[in-house]
Amino acid sequence: MKRVLVSGGCGFIGSHLVRRLLREHSDLHVVNIDLLTYAGRPENVADLADNPRYTFVHGDIASVEDVARAAEGCDGIINVAAESHVDRSIMGGDEFVTTNVFGTKRLLDYARTHELRYLQVSTDEVYGDVDPPHRSLEGDPLHGSSPYAASKAAGDLLVLSYARTFGLNASITRGSNTYGPYQFPEKLIPLFTTNAFDGKDLPLYGDGMQVREMLFVEDHCSAIDLVFFSGVAGEVYNVGAEHEVPNIETAHKIIELTGADPATLKRVADRPGHDRRYALDCSKLRGIGWDRTTDFDTGLALTVDWFRDNRPWWEAIKNGEAFADYSAKNYGTRS
Ligand code: NAD
Ligand code: DAU
Repeated sequence: MKRVLVSGGCGFIGSHLVRRLLREHSDLHVVNIDLLTYAGRPENVADLADNPRYTFVHGDIASVEDVARAAEGCDGIINVAAESHVDRSIMGGDEFVTTNVFGTKRLLDYARTHELRYLQVSTDEVYGDVDPPHRSLEGDPLHGSSPYAASKAAGDLLVLSYARTFGLNASITRGSNTYGPYQFPEKLIPLFTTNAFDGKDLPLYGDGMQVREMLFVEDHCSAIDLVFFSGVAGEVYNVGAEHEVPNIETAHKIIELTGADPATLKRVADRPGHDRRYALDCSKLRGIGWDRTTDFDTGLALTVDWFRDNRPWWEAIKNGEAFADYSAKNYGTRS
């Protein structure tokens, strides 16, 4: 593999992945195609601007022309780009289908006609919520609860269909809830952390007993890297922390790490269709040599420190008009 196309490399996971690929594979050229939506931040990869093995293409994965321009000469594609926020999908935007389904098809079509290796970065949300003690296995039925999860499940089914029907050399990773530096501050951990620094309320949906497996972003990226280079075609690999945490516990940890007033934790109306518990069985991924390296307490402390040290990064987002509009729509009617 000489040249790989990563989509969504200016987002949270994509920016860590691009950096990791350049660091771990000294002969690899990485092309990053990103539409620069509200979540795509060029500053997330500003440190790579002068790297001769890195190319940025401003483009849309749902455009045949943009994909062809970016993928020319590539041996593989890692599709990280997506509309990624559940609450925004509940607000009803078409972009969840355009990017997560149609965009996936565009990349698959290019990979098929040019016989490229393909990896789809997917999510544990495609399984829907699962009752204890079950942990989702790769062959479990798909039950996406939100429009976001449904669009990701549709993307996964397209990938599997291309592997079966056209023999495309494609695999899928399904990651659990990921956190770390550069995560957009609409998501639970960066939102609560930055609100805590500013003495604002921490809006906990419902009873806060929804369970997530919090995975440090570097561990998620090491799994994507491993599956892209060593995964079997047509196979799906779960990527989880295998450590379950209720949201209320995450909130209390953030309060402790930031020194926020516990009274700022406020219960607000629940997310419609809110999944109660995700849990993944990751034996298959472990079987090809992956292991998690960062436990939640270590990763969360590191993440809170990063947000403490990088206030200008998140203030530029949170002080903008677009973020205020989103916050008003999402939280305005909850309390
Ligand atoms: P993000 O929202 O931070 O970043 C998404 C990136 O994709 C942005 O840079 C955006 O500009 C880009 N993008 C969006 N539409 C595009 C388009 N049409 N063409 C090109 N680029 C486009 O997302 P994230 O949290 O980093 O998630 C990345 C991927 O990982 C997604 O596929 C998501 O479903 C999956 N995932 C995320 C998590 C998580 O907890 N964050 C967990 C499991 C899986
Ligand atoms: O599980 C993988 C998924 O994790 C990814 O596929 C998604 O792209 C990613 O956004 C994330 O989805 P979640 O919905 O789990 O992430 P979010 O940070 O939005 O919410 C995490 C939990 O916290 C969820 O149970 C809802 C709750 N929550 C979230 C917000 C934003 C709150 O209680 N209050 C909030 O304000």
